[in-house]
Amino acid sequence: MNVVSTISEIRSVVKQLQLKEQKVAFVPTMGALHGGHLSLIQLAKKVADHIVVSIYVNPEQFGPAEDFGSYPRTLERDLEFCIQENVGTVFTPSDEVMYGNEEKFFRIEIDVLNEHLDGGSRPGYFQGIALVVNKLFNIVQPDVAVFGQKDYQQFQVIQEMVNEFNHDLELIMAPIERAEDGLALSSRNAYLSETEKAIAPLLFKKMQESVAEIHKGLLKPESLLSRKQKDLEAKGFKNDYFNVYSMDRLQPVSKLSKKETYILAAAAYLGKTRLIDNIIFEC
Ligand code: PAJ
Repeated sequence: MNVVSTISEIRSVVKQLQLKEQKVAFVPTMGALHGGHLSLIQLAKKVADHIVVSIYVNPEQFGPAEDFGSYPRTLERDLEFCIQENVGTVFTPSDEVMYGNEEKFFRIEIDVLNEHLDGGSRPGYFQGIALVVNKLFNIVQPDVAVFGQKDYQQFQVIQEMVNEFNHDLELIMAPIERAEDGLALSSRNAYLSETEKAIAPLLFKKMQESVAEIHKGLLKPESLLSRKQKDLEAKGFKNDYFNVYSMDRLQPVSKLSKKETYILAAAAYLGKTRLIDNIIFEC
């Protein structure tokens, strides 16, 4: 397995592979790799000959009060994990390589897709993600890139960015990987105490219950959704959002239409840990 940290090295690895007609799939991550990342790598293997994983904790996507300093950094273990999974190349750039020290003259603005869900709650978050992914795509220049449904809004933002900025690659979305108790796998689950770990799966359970009620024919889910949020609060969650949104523009929907596909998306804090999850469903 190659481990490279500079732009010229990663470009030359990818270019040589593409000259040999090898298809390159890219899986961008912030490390602390777990089963969710693994499923992305496995999906990537099905569509490409060589997998590039990047590991970079992007400072631009953390707000001043967020966990940039304490975000889990487990590089040795992550590299072991990638070797086990037959990853071809790991790209581990430094802040210097990604951003340098020069004055910056450009920012990315995101329109309607950024209004709700995490975009509404975390100012600057998707601007920071779009910035780093834009740069990573230009640096790595893969044929395919794989992202998880776990961060559906991120996928939508990046899909639009690829379309509007004409990135020459295909995006693939991998389903959400869960623990046996239903909790969506996340690097941040490492912050949960034992007590919180036992409560955490309730978030997905309440989401499943909501979708089951909607499937029974409930087309105006507002009071159902607020009841589910109250149930979560009673167990110690601090809700951020818990709502149904349109799939393409990510706008809240109060009246559902039969046969349409929607996303139920939720974010809640358990202690200091922010959990997010979603279910895509047809009405
Ligand atoms: P990170 O949180 O490390 O996630 C990397 C990729 O793994 C993302 O595409 C995310 O959606 C996916 N992922 C995480 N947990 C998952 C799960 N339980 N099931 C399926 N996929 C899962 O997302 C980021 O990093 C960053 O924002 C990044 C795109 C790397 C830009 O900095």
